[in-house]
Amino acid sequence: MVLDILLHAGDTSIVGFLDNNRSIHGRSIDGYPVLGAIDDLGPLAKEHAVDGAIIAIGDNGTRRRLARQVDAEGLPLVSAIHPATSIASNAAIGRNAVIAAGSVVCAHCQIGDSVILNTGCIVDHQTMIGEGVHVCPGVRMAGRVKVESGAFIGISATIIPSVTIGCEASIGAGAVVLESVPPLATAVGVPARVIGLDRADEDELAMLQPVAAMARQPAPHAATESADRND
Ligand SMILES: CC(C)(COP(=O)(O)OP(=O)(O)OC[C@H]1O[C@@H](n2cnc3c(N)ncnc32)[C@H](O)[C@@H]1OP(=O)(O)O)[C@@H](O)C(=O)NCCC(=O)NCCS
Repeated sequence: MVLDILLHAGDTSIVGFLDNNRSIHGRSIDGYPVLGAIDDLGPLAKEHAVDGAIIAIGDNGTRRRLARQVDAEGLPLVSAIHPATSIASNAAIGRNAVIAAGSVVCAHCQIGDSVILNTGCIVDHQTMIGEGVHVCPGVRMAGRVKVESGAFIGISATIIPSVTIGCEASIGAGAVVLESVPPLATAVGVPARVIGLDRADEDELAMLQPVAAMARQPAPHAATESADRND
């Protein structure tokens, strides 16, 4: 999916994939070689004259962790934004973001690093989405919603204005969220009700940051990191 978006966007030359599954090194995916392991990023980036990378992994925690690994290597993280999106000129989009076809991001929204806005989702005015959030296809988020780091918003969920979805919370497919959802909670149904709380993972919680976003950056030549090409 990320490869397809980059190809549609047309402003990046794709060098290849990195994947820690060594059995696929040397093979190609959709015509692009698997160059080596993510852990060998530094030397591979030099060898192939790569000047950017994007993490093509659906799992929020892994995506965020690998983004920090790329950062530590000093390689710029690039975003993949499908041309068939509508993004307000005053919206801010972070690095390593994936914005799929049909998505709409309205005025004064802030979309953090490593966020996925999946196919056809709507993010209305002044909504803030924190680092490493996955907004699944067809989600409708009203204005002034705040989604904290690492949250997962299931397919076709609807969120009314000014609600906060806490860090690492999960919203079920088709839920209608009328009230704020606490960190680590899973909420499902219409109206959405909390059905459980995940146990806090100390390492994950240490990585959580307040909602933040960075200005949109032009995408340079990118290597695409992919542990799961079905994302
Ligand atoms: C909310 C969700 C994350 C919960 O997953 P889970 O923790 O494994 O929950 P379970 O499957 O054990 O379900 C727990 C209970 O919630 C109910 N439930 C789960 N998801 C529900 C949903 N979306 N709406 C209504 N009820 C739901 C189950 O029926 C079950 O009820 P029961 O205890 O009465 O039997 C998951 O069901 C979901 O909706 N995921 C969305 C996936 C998605 O959108 N993927 C798109 C990827 S691009």
